[in-house]
Amino acid sequence: MKVTVLGASGGCGRWAVQCAAQRGHEVRAIVRPTTTYEPPPGVNVLRGEVTDPEFVASLDLREDVVLSCLGQRRASLLPWSKRLSPPDLVQTVARHLVGQNLRQLIWISAGGVGSSREQLAFPLGWMVRAGNVGVAYADLEEAEKVLAQADFPSLAVRPVTLTRGTKDQVVGEVPRYRPWSTIHRRSVARWMVDHAEGLAPHDGPAILLGNLR
Ligand SMILES: NC(=O)c1ccc[n+]([C@@H]2O[C@H](COP(=O)([O-])OP(=O)(O)OC[C@H]3O[C@@H](n4cnc5c(N)ncnc54)[C@H](OP(=O)(O)O)[C@@H]3O)[C@@H](O)[C@H]2O)c1
Repeated sequence: MKVTVLGASGGCGRWAVQCAAQRGHEVRAIVRPTTTYEPPPGVNVLRGEVTDPEFVASLDLREDVVLSCLGQRRASLLPWSKRLSPPDLVQTVARHLVGQNLRQLIWISAGGVGSSREQLAFPLGWMVRAGNVGVAYADLEEAEKVLAQADFPSLAVRPVTLTRGTKDQVVGEVPRYRPWSTIHRRSVARWMVDHAEGLAPHDGPAILLGNLR
């Protein structure tokens, strides 16, 4: 399979590139021009600005499964810390992608976006509206609306709180996003590759993804 990973330099993106490459797919990692990034063996790195529609068009994604792990960066985890990305990053890229012909898009949104707002337990409903977390959630909300109009299959993966662990987890759709719900970035990336390979089927435009054990 041809796999293109957007946001390949991020926490989930690095795992997505590694996992897809290890499974023998032809992987392209898309990285910003100035970001330090060392790809795993056999992975092609393409540098450019995904916010530029011409760059996205130049990728020629017709035969590709696109895994998008893009998301707004903040200076720290604190909700009011400085935003380091444009407030409309993900929706902008979503608009560029909708104009293209893709085989399939699997992309990272967040638990609490769209219909999963009702699955948020107290006090997460308040936390996802706070400061620049709220800005990022508004961006994802809009991106989900944009991608709902896509002519290609598109799945919004809405993870619960992301962690750095590397242990194998059993992950899948969860009914609630609770304050203690966590999932490793590695597990999110692996589930995305599993879904692309048909090993983790899911109907519908979005999934609340969490640890099942
Ligand atoms: N943290 C949580 O608990 C949580 C929970 C649910 C969902 N999420 C969502 O999951 C996403 C992925 O998480 P993560 O930890 O893998 O994020 P991350 O490590 O912050 O990675 C973000 C990726 O987006 C890229 N990016 C940021 N601004 C950009 C810009 N202006 N132009 C191009 N690329 C840009 C980054 O590129 P550079 O390396 O070049 O900066 C990086 O590759 C988050 O962004 C968030 O939306 C997070």
